[in-house]
Amino acid sequence: MVLLTSGQVSMVLSSTIVFIFTFLLFLSGYLLQQQTVRGLQAAIKPRLPAPAKIETTYDPHARLARRPGFRDAAYDNLLQETEVRWQKLGFVQLVRSHDEVCTALMLFADLHRDRSPATRVLLFPRSWIDDDEGDDPHLVTSRRLLRTAVRRYKVVLRPIGPLRAAQDSDSAYSLTSIFSLADFDRLIYLAPSGLIIDSLALDSLLAFSPPKQLAALPADPSASKISTSFMVVQPSTTTFKELSAARAAEQQHSFSDDEALFQRFFPARSSLLPPSLELDTTLYYESRELRSLGDPEAFNSTAFFGSTAYVRLTDPELPGPEYDVPYGRMVELRPDKGEARWAWERLYFRFHHRRMEVCGLDLLTPKRSSRQEEHAVVVENGGGSTEL
Ligand SMILES: *[C@@H]1O[C@H](CO)[C@@H](O)[C@H](O)[C@H]1NC(C)=O
Repeated sequence: MVLLTSGQVSMVLSSTIVFIFTFLLFLSGYLLQQQTVRGLQAAIKPRLPAPAKIETTYDPHARLARRPGFRDAAYDNLLQETEVRWQKLGFVQLVRSHDEVCTALMLFADLHRDRSPATRVLLFPRSWIDDDEGDDPHLVTSRRLLRTAVRRYKVVLRPIGPLRAAQDSDSAYSLTSIFSLADFDRLIYLAPSGLIIDSLALDSLLAFSPPKQLAALPADPSASKISTSFMVVQPSTTTFKELSAARAAEQQHSFSDDEALFQRFFPARSSLLPPSLELDTTLYYESRELRSLGDPEAFNSTAFFGSTAYVRLTDPELPGPEYDVPYGRMVELRPDKGEARWAWERLYFRFHHRRMEVCGLDLLTPKRSSRQEEHAVVVENGGGSTEL
C-alpha cells in the first residue's frame, strides 16, 4: 500500500479536478459544435413536404368556405424523405418584356428563401441572348438579372421563340409554351406579380397531386371555367402541338387571350384543382380580396400570413405592384380599417422592398396602354415615390 503525504494528495486532487474541468470544457465545446453542425445542416437542407390527403371530387363551395388563416401545424412536422424526383418538378415563369424579369426573379428568390427543393424554370425571348445589341439599357439589365437568377437562385433558363411572327411581344409569346417543357413531369405556374409567403404547400402540390394535364383554380364562384392565374401543368409535346394549332387558328391572339384559349381547351369539370388541397393552406390569394372581406373585423393577419402560400398583388385600379403609384392613391384604395388594411399595405411594401433587395431596381413609371387608360390618368399628376 502506498502512503501519500497530504501534499501529494492535494496534488493528485487538484490535477484530477483540472482534468475533470478540462474534459467538461472539451465536452461542452464538442456538443456545442455538434449542435451548430446540425443547425447548419438543417438550415441548408431543403424543406420536404409531406403527402396531402386528396379528394378528387370537386365542390366549388369548399373553396368558398375555406377560412384564410387556418392551419394545421402537423403539416410542418411531417417532414420526411420521400422518393420524389425534384429535378422533374418545378416552378415556371414566363417573361415577355424587360419589365417582367425582376418580378419573376423575386419569385425564384422567395423559393430559394423557403428552401424549396423544386427546380426553377424561366422562359424568356430567345432574341435577348441572340443579338449583340448590348447598348439597350433594358436589355443590359435583363441580362444581369438572368445571370443573377442562374448564379444565386439556380434557375434553369429556357429561351423560347415567338409562337408566331408578330411585331409585338404581347401576341408573340403564350402560356402554351409551358407545355413544351416535356422534360418535366409537372410545373406550377403562378401569375405575376406576387409574393410567395410560404412555398411548402406548393412543393407538396408538385410532389403529390394526382397526375392531370392541367389542374387550375376556378375563374368564378360557380367554378364553370378555369383560371390561368394558378396552374399545375403536366408538359406534353402532344398538348403543346394541339394548343399551338388552336392558337394559330385564331386571327388575332394576344397574351391576354391565353386564358380564353385554355378555358376552351381544358373544361372545368376535369381540370380543377381539388379544394381539399386548400384545407390547411390557401394556395392562391389576391390582394383585392382583402378589400372586400365579408367581416373585416374578424380578419386575423397573423393567421393569414401563416396559412397562405402565394398572394398575387392585383387590384383592378392599380397597374401592378412594380409600378410607382402616388401614396395618396394607395390610401384611397387600401382596406378601410383593421388588420386587413395592415396586411394589404404590408404586402405592397414588402413587394417594393424585395424589388430593391433582389433586383436592385426602383419602381417603374406606369406605361400608358389602352387597357390601363384609367390608371394613367391617376399616375400623371403624381409620380412621387411610394414610401410606406
Ligand atoms: C390570430 O391568429 C393567431 C395564429 O393563428 C393566434 O395565435 C391569435 O390568437 C389570433 N388572434 C386573434 C385576435 O384571434
